[in-house]
Amino acid sequence: MYCFTDPWYLPVDLKLIKSIFQKDFSYFNDHGMYCHPKDNISMNLFNLVNEDWKNLRAKLTPLFSSSKLKSMFQIFVDKAEVLEEVIGSYSSRNEPLNIEDVASRFTIDVITSCGFGIETNALKNSNKEFMKCGVETFNPRLLKFVLMEVVPSGILANLGFKANGAHTNNLFNNLISEVIQYRETNKVFRNDFLQLLLELKQNQEMTDDQIIAQCFGFFAAGFETTSITVMFAMLELALNQEIQNKLRDKIEEVLEKYDGNVCYDAVMEMNYLDKVLNETLRKYPPGPIIPRNCTKTYRVPETDVIIEKGTRVIIPIWGLHRDPEFYPDPEQFNPENFNAENKANRPDMAFIPFGEGPRMCIGLRFGLLETKLALIKLLKNFKYTLNGRTKVPIEIDPEAIFTLKIKEDVWLDVTKI
Ligand code: HEM
Repeated sequence: MYCFTDPWYLPVDLKLIKSIFQKDFSYFNDHGMYCHPKDNISMNLFNLVNEDWKNLRAKLTPLFSSSKLKSMFQIFVDKAEVLEEVIGSYSSRNEPLNIEDVASRFTIDVITSCGFGIETNALKNSNKEFMKCGVETFNPRLLKFVLMEVVPSGILANLGFKANGAHTNNLFNNLISEVIQYRETNKVFRNDFLQLLLELKQNQEMTDDQIIAQCFGFFAAGFETTSITVMFAMLELALNQEIQNKLRDKIEEVLEKYDGNVCYDAVMEMNYLDKVLNETLRKYPPGPIIPRNCTKTYRVPETDVIIEKGTRVIIPIWGLHRDPEFYPDPEQFNPENFNAENKANRPDMAFIPFGEGPRMCIGLRFGLLETKLALIKLLKNFKYTLNGRTKVPIEIDPEAIFTLKIKEDVWLDVTKI
């Protein structure tokens, strides 16, 4: 396919996709995003290339280990409890809720708290500052996208271009600098990503600018992806009452074993929740494509096709996830697509919402756990139906470039059980 006069390569063969992600990763190790030191927040893990990326990925991987995740678990629970409270107030006022709005306020609260210890309280007060960052980062106007595609980054950077917008750039630079200074001056210790980044700084492995960039990167990559997932799961649960009731029963069943306590082990035992979540990520992958750049000229194995160095490669996640060859009725929301038998019968790479290989999503477990806690708290005591304001079938917004978006909001009616 072509973007203006630029050829882009779009592989559809699963074997080739697997090679691009894994065996031949060294040819495709770049996301091909705008990245320049003069725009410090653009220097985050998602955007960096080659050795810079490799070194940083190695340093950041321990931040996302199971033990770190467990140590943050209580923050997730606390925020999910506020979510439950907020839903309760919609239900007692008999007011329909815009699920994307509520879900994104929840994910902002989680990521800013776990990320850099800032209590945004977006769930209760809404927080326009961070909401605006999401819009600036993920919904760039077409002109900005084209600029980043066609103008070399050095020229843009020298003109003062900020890939993520001036508001986001200032907010992250000012806010994170203040938090760093406060923690260093007052010797504050907190169990979050920033703490671990500051430890890397102490060992001379990271500068303030790099820390700010990573905080932004975690926010950008982790906030909207997760809230979109919660939104689409709730949309399908409202459309499929049987699945909603079954999921609630199954959650209850596990919680009874743990005396009603939403602990880490209980969440890990919720198999049906896992199936519903995977089916949501199949039908609505938050990143519908993965961009990669070819960094060394590559011959497609067993063919004469050459992918030239510098060619953009687009991995079509949405296309694979809706291919009837792998999912017989791809438009139907069916959690049984993820039972053991169906999973075993599907080829590798037919389900890749988090990408694959050395560059796959570093926040996978974080995102899954966060979404699961949101769904547990949303469903435990409340029942949802689709409000008449929601247009069905929903329409995907073709202008959303980086994340899956719908044209109109999803409104739900909620009643306490
Ligand atoms: C449902 C939630 C999420 C989805 C579907 C998702 C999806 C993805 C995808 C498709 C990629 C590109 C992978 C590739 O190139 O192979 C990615 C990369 C990344 N994600 Fe996520 N993500 C989610 C949540 C998160 C969270 C919560 C965080 C952080 C707290 C996060 C941080 C990142 C980072 C930093 C990268 C870049 C990794 C690198 O280039 O080395 N993501 N994600």
